[in-house]
Amino acid sequence: MKKVTLLLSIILMMIFSSYKQEKPLYKDAKQPIEKRIDDLLARMNLKEKVMQLNQFTLGRNDNANNMADPVADIPGEIGSLIYFGSNADLRNKVQKKAMEQTRLGIPILFGYDVIHGFRTIYPISLGQACSWNAALVEKACGVAAQEARMSGVDWTFSPMIDVARDGRWGRVAEGYGEDTYTNAVFTVASVKGYQGEDLSSERNVAACLKHYIGYGASEAGRDYVYSEISSQTLWDTYMLPYENGVKAGVATLMSSFNDISGTPGSANHYTLTEVLKKRWKHDGFVVSDWGSIEQLRPQGIAGSKKEAAFKAFTAGVEMDMMNRCYDAHLEELVKEGKVSEDLLNDAVRRVLRVKFRLGLFDRPYTPATTEKERFYRPESLKIAEQLAEESIVLLKNENKVLPINNVSKIAVIGPMAKTKWHLLGSWAAQGNSEDIITIYDALQAEYKGKAEVAYALGCDFDGKDRKDLEEAKALAAKSDLIVLCLGEKKNWSGENASRSTIALPQIQEELAMELKKLGKRVVLVLSNGRPLELSRLEPISDAILTMWQPGTPGGKPLAGVLSGRVNPSGKLAMTFPYSTGQIPIYYNYRQSARPHQGKYQDIQSTPLYEFAHGLSYTTFGYGELKVSVSKLKRGDKLTVEIPVTNMGDRDGVETVHWFIQDPVCTISRPVKELKYFEKQLLKKGETKLYKFEVNLERDLSFVNGEGQRFLESGEYNIMVKNKKIKIEIVD
Ligand code: BGC
Repeated sequence: MKKVTLLLSIILMMIFSSYKQEKPLYKDAKQPIEKRIDDLLARMNLKEKVMQLNQFTLGRNDNANNMADPVADIPGEIGSLIYFGSNADLRNKVQKKAMEQTRLGIPILFGYDVIHGFRTIYPISLGQACSWNAALVEKACGVAAQEARMSGVDWTFSPMIDVARDGRWGRVAEGYGEDTYTNAVFTVASVKGYQGEDLSSERNVAACLKHYIGYGASEAGRDYVYSEISSQTLWDTYMLPYENGVKAGVATLMSSFNDISGTPGSANHYTLTEVLKKRWKHDGFVVSDWGSIEQLRPQGIAGSKKEAAFKAFTAGVEMDMMNRCYDAHLEELVKEGKVSEDLLNDAVRRVLRVKFRLGLFDRPYTPATTEKERFYRPESLKIAEQLAEESIVLLKNENKVLPINNVSKIAVIGPMAKTKWHLLGSWAAQGNSEDIITIYDALQAEYKGKAEVAYALGCDFDGKDRKDLEEAKALAAKSDLIVLCLGEKKNWSGENASRSTIALPQIQEELAMELKKLGKRVVLVLSNGRPLELSRLEPISDAILTMWQPGTPGGKPLAGVLSGRVNPSGKLAMTFPYSTGQIPIYYNYRQSARPHQGKYQDIQSTPLYEFAHGLSYTTFGYGELKVSVSKLKRGDKLTVEIPVTNMGDRDGVETVHWFIQDPVCTISRPVKELKYFEKQLLKKGETKLYKFEVNLERDLSFVNGEGQRFLESGEYNIMVKNKKIKIEIVD
């Protein structure tokens, strides 16, 4: 009997120890993540650790600016891959190699640029911001995440939250406009949308705030160049969106290309380590931008790739995106004692943490699904259509030429009228232009049985060819009204797409002038990836709208606005200058020493359309601004209210923007600063109260060049439209 028991316990011990061998702690989903990382790190050798800190590109990449050869033989130990695929087949195949043919079976993290949708494409981010509907943007990002994750993408390089005030820079299309607070609000919305409550869900992806930091300040709107940012401006203009994104739990950030006053974003110990990791306690990781480590050489702060690796890594960039600097030199740098093991372990821990949170260790493969299950779900298309409708901004509507009713012949003219491709916008991921309805087709459908809609090209987007002009004039001559569809090609904005002027090419302006001579009403419809210079087009247009680049819904939302089925509610998130020469021009400029002087001699000094401008088919009357209390002490609560009435004869949606102003302060402050906005539907005749719950410390304070906040006593103004009310903080 004793012998049997002994034998049994030996067998049990053997089973137990083989089980222990088979299932190391890091593979046990029930263990806490940090313990799993401890266990895994202890098993990893130097090479394996270094490989976790690299990202290569898998196969073809659709970023025309980054056409480096894909790495031929992907090592199974690689930390991450850029994945350009619309289904998960290739991902799963490569993942299998990582899981089954490497010593430790660490899953690969697949990342991709899902910027304004994956297959269902939303308006470009600048357009989304003009909707002032953060809840809707959150939902759109949720759909993008679902489509991407089900297609094998775990991580998006989005949102782009570079405050941008120079429309010549093509990347203004990718962000949420010129204002710090607006960018901060949409940052939080998009991070929540992408990441959801639980990163490990099969519908969520890890987000990435980019490009940290100050890339939007690129000199003269040129890409990849120097940016001059004082520490004061760094803090009061650029930091807040990132700070709020980190607070919202973003998994990753991307370090920027730009040189920030002498220290590039990808070698900046202050922003990456002092602020991000130490002050804000971000526990995810930072990936470089494509080549931004290697590019420390041409930027003149590293003499070799090895030195570039050293500078970027010790500054706080954990992952190398296609620089081939870390895989080539990091091991050596550790062996030489130049990079400490502790720093290396911390970096690897951060990358592994994100992988664990995404559930990749427990479910490394993406389940197979059909395109129908993944893409264009009815609710996704509905969100896309609503967002495209809400992002349209009605800039001008003289004599109520819009909506277009009781008209029998509409001439649709211009290079934008029949394009599908250009309506997608830059960075359109897996968007399929074939699924887009053109402006012309959408108008035909909209006016079916009500008006005749005919088309002529008029001219191309640019060039000098005038051969299509006469046909367009002939069509216009026999029509009641012209819908003139002008704008920018898809690749005129986005990365590496700077323009020296933000006016449309001369040929498009000429077409407009020629058509106007016919004496017909002209409705100018614009599809564009940046604010435009419209000073010559404005006087000859009866109405002007920008639809931005609307993505999958194409011309339908616009057709709805033109017919009146949809009442426009978008408002500009970026100023439209009067001329390119005014740039930089933005609403929250700092006060001038002589506000009455210093104007341009040749043109007006004000923009053509200012920040937050946007019309509706109804009119809204603003009542009296009221404060709950006008003398306060620090810590007190303050509510400001304003009643708004829909005075017109149709329902409408109105966004109220709340600004503050601190007229006298230790540092000079902008003429006004947006601190809150609220959008509400008002039925015709209805009055609703808009409320701003002011948090004195958050909303009235200023930040210095060290990032410290100060709330000074004294008078402040709270402003809505042209109304102002004073409050005072007393000690
Ligand atoms: C861009 C990034 C992008 C990356 C990967 C870079 O050139 O600046 O925004 O995420 O490429 O495609």
